[in-house]
Amino acid sequence: MDVNELPISDSLKTLVSTEKGIKKLFPPQEEAIKKGFFDLQKNFLLVTQTASGKTLLAELLLVENSLRKKGLSVYLSPLKALASEKYRDFLLYEKLGVKTALSLGDYDKADAYLEQYDVIVTTYEKMDSLLRHKPKWLSKINLVVIDEIHFVDDEERGPVLESLIAKLKLLVPSVKLVGMSATIGNPRDLAKWLDAELIISSWRPVPLKQGVFYKHKIIFDNGEELQVKKVFDHPIFDLVFDTISDNGQALVFVHSRKRAVDLANATAAKLGIKESAEARYYSQLLLESSDVPLLNNLLSSLVRKGVCFHHAGLTHEQRTIIEEAFRKGAIKVIYATPTLAAGVNLPARRVVVEDYRRYSGIVGYEEIKVIEYKQFAGRAGRPGYDEFGEAVLIARSQTDVKLLMERFIQGEPEKIESKLMSIKALRSHLLALIATLGPLGMDGVKEFFKNTFHGKTSSLIGFKSTYEKVLDFLSNNDFIEDRNGRYTATKLGKIVSEVYLDPMTVVVFRNLIKKVTRRLSDFGMLYIIAVSPDMPSLLVRRREEEQLESLLDVYYNEIPGTMDDAYIPSWEEYLSRLKTALFLYDWINEKPEQEIVEKYDLGPGDIRSLAETAEWIAHGLKKVSLMLEGIDSYLAQKLETIEIRLRYGVKEDIIELLAIPGVGRVRARRLYLAGFRTIEDIAKATPSQLKKIEGIGDALSVRLIEEARRLVGLS
Ligand SMILES: Nc1ncnc2c1ncn2[C@@H]1O[C@H](COP(=O)(O)OP(=O)(O)OP(=O)(O)O)[C@@H](O)[C@H]1O
Ligand SMILES: [Mg+2]
Repeated sequence: MDVNELPISDSLKTLVSTEKGIKKLFPPQEEAIKKGFFDLQKNFLLVTQTASGKTLLAELLLVENSLRKKGLSVYLSPLKALASEKYRDFLLYEKLGVKTALSLGDYDKADAYLEQYDVIVTTYEKMDSLLRHKPKWLSKINLVVIDEIHFVDDEERGPVLESLIAKLKLLVPSVKLVGMSATIGNPRDLAKWLDAELIISSWRPVPLKQGVFYKHKIIFDNGEELQVKKVFDHPIFDLVFDTISDNGQALVFVHSRKRAVDLANATAAKLGIKESAEARYYSQLLLESSDVPLLNNLLSSLVRKGVCFHHAGLTHEQRTIIEEAFRKGAIKVIYATPTLAAGVNLPARRVVVEDYRRYSGIVGYEEIKVIEYKQFAGRAGRPGYDEFGEAVLIARSQTDVKLLMERFIQGEPEKIESKLMSIKALRSHLLALIATLGPLGMDGVKEFFKNTFHGKTSSLIGFKSTYEKVLDFLSNNDFIEDRNGRYTATKLGKIVSEVYLDPMTVVVFRNLIKKVTRRLSDFGMLYIIAVSPDMPSLLVRRREEEQLESLLDVYYNEIPGTMDDAYIPSWEEYLSRLKTALFLYDWINEKPEQEIVEKYDLGPGDIRSLAETAEWIAHGLKKVSLMLEGIDSYLAQKLETIEIRLRYGVKEDIIELLAIPGVGRVRARRLYLAGFRTIEDIAKATPSQLKKIEGIGDALSVRLIEEARRLVGLS
């Protein structure tokens, strides 16, 4: 099918063929279109190969929906990074008058401004939080696209996505749903749930050869064999070298961050990839990409040598630079953890999966899922880059060869199962349901469950006791009330649902606050945040235990309540929560990032994301504390200050300076120490005065003064 034959607006056809260079539809895309993909009454589930153009087809639908002015379109992605990438793609359609908003921030807002847009690009969680505010624009939504819908199977994210879809079906019954994934073992079950036309296809635009490497040879699934020259002391380097020598690029998935860094270092030392002007350019960008000089230097020197690693410990900016450098060919090989896998388009000709097992604290080594392997493999051979792609698993023995071939390469992706029926997930989602749709009788609750994937695929009888237990928990803790057989959210329950906290976080908060004898210290407050079930906790190594125990003595008087009051089940968990609180304390007291990175074994990306989570909890608890009776108002004030300090990682005295664009925690402190303590001080300064401060040069000094003058209304 030609792009011209598409049942879409002419302006869109022209744009797609001229700017995107897309002239013909891929066969699975064509099949979907023939079955009515652009018909707004019909739901679709696309379960077609990686790189077969699912996301692109959905993009056309979202834009077309906007052009027809039928309503508001929403695109949901599992990852913020993927959402940002999609958002950039959508900016192209501004030429047609399509306005796209990227909505990622704050979970406690209705974001009324979104009404002015045509397409909203966001994550599952943000969308779920938006629904809880029942924004005015909700009824305008007529199309929701859910990318990577296999995430329904994820312990954490799955329940969010599942209840989000179920609620959407109740709130906007006429909405068109489109789900997409390359890796679903039971597509018919999902299609039944979504009431969707199912498109299944194994066609791929760029052939993907999958094979197992053993003794210098790759044995491919099509029977081909490829000799790989032995040059180095490890097969990974040989596999990478082989691809690079043939002008290709490689992506290697490994099981840990440390492994990614080690392999990148070794590759830089051994492979001798020639330095290019482009590599120098990106290397320079990375030199100032975070406040952690050692990391910047490492990334920068690796990229110069055409190599890099990629994991969630890096900042968003660093990851974006690395991905772009790879796209532009400046980097020839990336060693990555699984965070890079789903949905991304990168020019990898060869994907190597080093380890098909992964260490998990609970069960020791476990095999990765077929879904995961297929997602890794699917990053190879993307249209527009290579003529073919290769995915290679590494075998350690002859028996491994057969096992890997059967298990992963010929294996079918696992069945997707609902993860909604856990107490933890239901606590939040049942409360949200009652707060948004209540008053709700038992029939209403059942109606909701009938709309979930769980309810569509299995009987609810066995789970009645689970959700009844949760309803009891919610009413015993004053989040909901039973009024003549109908559940209503209390004022507290409404707030908790809106601020998107786990109700259990609020129960812990209430418990601990009661135990406060004197006023809470900063540390005491951070401890409360760190023990809440919404906060991830830091891993404690054996050798750290003793030191943490002695610190416990130091802070003992500042910690409200006991371990039991916070429902902490074990001593190990307690120490790990304590470590998290200590990290947050260092962060808001301006300990240099380099030191935090070393002391807590975190990357700058982790620091940002942990601080962001803590900030969100502080924000939620601030609102909750205003609702609770018998609580001193100082508490809300304290939480508000802590919230801001967590956001920027600063002490209180320099908060004002952070309003100036380009001023972060380090610069603000330097300005303050040099005597510039308010925005007004800076507005009155001269460039030569500011230039005396470390890290402030000609251009920046002028810009800071301009910004400050603007803020105080002087220009
Ligand atoms: N009909 C087409 N002609 C040419 N290129 C296309 C066509 N459809 C999609 N593409 C391009 O192919 C690449 C892969 O498409 P897309 O990302 O939509 O695949 P996908 O099915 O969503 O893959 P994944 O399962 O990995 O998310 C993109 O660069 C996209 O722009
Ligand atoms: Mg995709």
